[in-house]
Amino acid sequence: MRVSLADAIALLKRGEVVAIPTETVYGLAGDAQNESALHKIYATKQRPANNPLIVHIASAAQVDDFASEFPPLAQKLGLAFWPGPFTLVLKAKPTVSTVVRAGEPTVALRVPAHPLTLQLLQESGLALAAPSANRYTQLSPTTAAHVESSLGQDIPVLDGGACQVGIESTIVSVDGDTWQLLRHGMITQAQIEAIAGKPALAHAMATPKAPGQHLLHYSPRTPTQLFDEYIELQKYAQTHQDCATLLIGNVTTNLNSGFQHCIALSDTPAEVAEHLYESLHKLDQLQASTILIFLPPNLPEWAAIRDRLTRAGYRENF
Ligand code: TXA
Ligand code: MG
Repeated sequence: MRVSLADAIALLKRGEVVAIPTETVYGLAGDAQNESALHKIYATKQRPANNPLIVHIASAAQVDDFASEFPPLAQKLGLAFWPGPFTLVLKAKPTVSTVVRAGEPTVALRVPAHPLTLQLLQESGLALAAPSANRYTQLSPTTAAHVESSLGQDIPVLDGGACQVGIESTIVSVDGDTWQLLRHGMITQAQIEAIAGKPALAHAMATPKAPGQHLLHYSPRTPTQLFDEYIELQKYAQTHQDCATLLIGNVTTNLNSGFQHCIALSDTPAEVAEHLYESLHKLDQLQASTILIFLPPNLPEWAAIRDRLTRAGYRENF
C-alpha cells in the first residue's frame, strides 16, 4: 500500500512500520526509540532477534544521541561519506534500546542519501531503525513493488522510485583510532583507507562482528550456480534444461546470444550494483531450474558485488 510522506510520518509516530526508500535498498523503518515498533520490524521480517538493526539519522549531529563516543576518525569518515551508502558502528550509549542493537554494546548509524527519506527524517524528528525491507534471507528490494511482493500488499510503502546504488551500505566499525570493515559496499575499502589515512585492522571479515553476515543471505528462491570461468557456465547451460543466466562484465553479446533467459550487465561496478537485485528478482520470477551467474573478476572494485553473489549462491556452492 503506497502512502504519502505525511501518512508515513503519522504512522511512524504512532509506532507503526513503514517501508522507506534509500539510495541502497528499501528499508523497513520504525521509530528507533520505540521498542514496540522495533519488535514489529523483527516480526514482519521474520528476522532473528540477535541480528541488530541500522539506525538512520538526518545528519551527523544526531550521532551523539546514540553513540557514547564519536572518535575523530569516525567523524572524518562521516564527513566524507554521509549522506551516503555508509554505516558506522560505534560504542552505544546505555540509553539506546537493546532491541535495536540486539544486545550488542555497539550501535550502527547511517545518514542515507535519498531526498524523500532525508525529508522524512528531518520533518518527523525521528531516528529510524531500518533493515532491508524483505523477509529474512530473501533478496533485498530496490523498488516499492519488490517490497510488496516480499512483505505483502498491506505493508505501507513510501515510494521513492528505484534505488540508485542498489546494494546495501558499507559497514565500518570504529573503536578509538582503529577501524574494521564489517560489510563490503559501494564505498570501497580503498576509499575508506584514503580518508582514514591507515589500513583496516586485519581479519575483520573473517570474524565478522556483523551478525547478519552469515552466508545464507540475499538468496533468490531459485537454486543458483556461480561461475568464474565462462566456458564452465556454457557447458553447464548445454547440459541442463531451463536455466536462467546473469552475465556480468566482459562478455561480448555474440557469446551470450545462445541463452534462453539471459540478462547481461555492464562491466562498470556502479551500474551492475544498481541493477543487480532487480536482475535477480526478474530471473527468480522465471521459475527456471537454476540461475547461472558469470561473476565479475576478483578485483577490489568488484568486492561488494562478488560478496552479495557469493551469498546468493551459498546454498548450492558450499
Ligand atoms: O544499505 C543499508 O545498510 C540498508 C538500508 C535500508 O539502509 N540496510 C541494511 O540493513 O542492509 P540490514 O539489517 O539488512 O543489514 C544491517 C547489517 C546486519 O548485517 C547487521 O548485523 C549489521 O548491519 N549491524 C547492525 N548493527 C550492528 C552492530 N551494532 N554491530 C555490528 N553489526 C551491526
Ligand atoms: Mg538485509
